[in-house]
Amino acid sequence: MYEQTVRPLKGAGDPLSGGVVATGLGKRFGDLWALRGLDLNVAPGTVLGLLGHNGAGKTTAIRILTTLSQATEGSATVAGIDVAAHPGRVRERIGVAAQQATVDGLMTARLNLQTIGCLHGMSKAEARRRGDVLLERLDLSEFASKLVRTYSGGMRRRLDVAASLMGQPEVLFLDEPTTGLDPRSRGDLWEMLRELVSEGTTIILTTQYLEEADRMANDIVVLDHGRTVAHGTPAELKARIGDDRLDVKVANASELPGAAKAISVFAEEEPMYDMDGLVVTAPIRPGVRVIDVVRALDDAGIEAIDIARREATLDDVFMSLTSNSHHQRDDSKDDQRDPI
Ligand SMILES: Nc1ncnc2c1ncn2[C@@H]1O[C@H](COP(=O)(O)OP(=O)(O)OP(=O)(O)O)[C@@H](O)[C@H]1O
Ligand SMILES: [Mg+2]
Repeated sequence: MYEQTVRPLKGAGDPLSGGVVATGLGKRFGDLWALRGLDLNVAPGTVLGLLGHNGAGKTTAIRILTTLSQATEGSATVAGIDVAAHPGRVRERIGVAAQQATVDGLMTARLNLQTIGCLHGMSKAEARRRGDVLLERLDLSEFASKLVRTYSGGMRRRLDVAASLMGQPEVLFLDEPTTGLDPRSRGDLWEMLRELVSEGTTIILTTQYLEEADRMANDIVVLDHGRTVAHGTPAELKARIGDDRLDVKVANASELPGAAKAISVFAEEEPMYDMDGLVVTAPIRPGVRVIDVVRALDDAGIEAIDIARREATLDDVFMSLTSNSHHQRDDSKDDQRDPI
């Protein structure tokens, strides 16, 4: 069975062996601190989601924890081992699916996995057996004998994940594992990762998909320009921003500022708006009725196409915590009054 073949057994039963701890981790490139003051305490058998916009420092953190890069300051242990002092020993205990594909396009998927297995000290037969189990698990069996360069992006991504699992890692690092995967493959991968976690594997994953973090992660760290701007469970982060959201969709971008102004009287915070989606969003005060909002918009002469009230999601948390050019706060009113 799958569990018996690839189940990570190393360190099972020792609560300190399989986790990740970081203290004040930082990395500077020239004048730029790509990462600063990162503190982590990831318990064995749990999932940490690292979130952040492009350039937030996610890959930098993963590279330090996987010994591919040295921290400028701070320290970290992975599976109880100091990454700076014993990088080789750390590498024996981890699996990594980097953001950039690492499998060889000129080999078949099966040979790629077999080679990686042999690097982990398995016999050829053993490596092939384990590789085949993982290919099956990631729905790639049919393509096992095809050259990897003929793979689609999503197939490659899944092969990267298979490769990261060859060494039965205690701690698995996945840098945007589901980018480019179609919804079904994404769901399948989540299920497989959950299985690994239930068997004791610790996972640190980065993602751009808030739904992924919400479903997969026990804990979430939100990075913005290298700094940790939030840390907590998905529920804690959602509770932190609390109130229900109101979304108002308008017909034209020129109506966004007016709509934002009209609903600001009902809002707990200044409304934010999405230029592309033509939606103004705000956390609304308890007791506000949608009908009041409709009237206010009507009085302001705003043509709202749709008005919806909903619970806050992790997307809202993310948007309210991080700087995003597409979601602007209504505090530069002069700019926003200009029709786009
Ligand atoms: N080798 C390097 N030399 C100089 N700057 C770097 C280097 N690697 C990363 N950076 C910078 O560090 C910052 C963080 O980059 P990083 O790759 O960690 O971001 P990220 O959160 O993984 O982004 P993405 O979502 O695009 O993958 C960026 O500003 C990036 O330009
Ligand atoms: Mg990255």
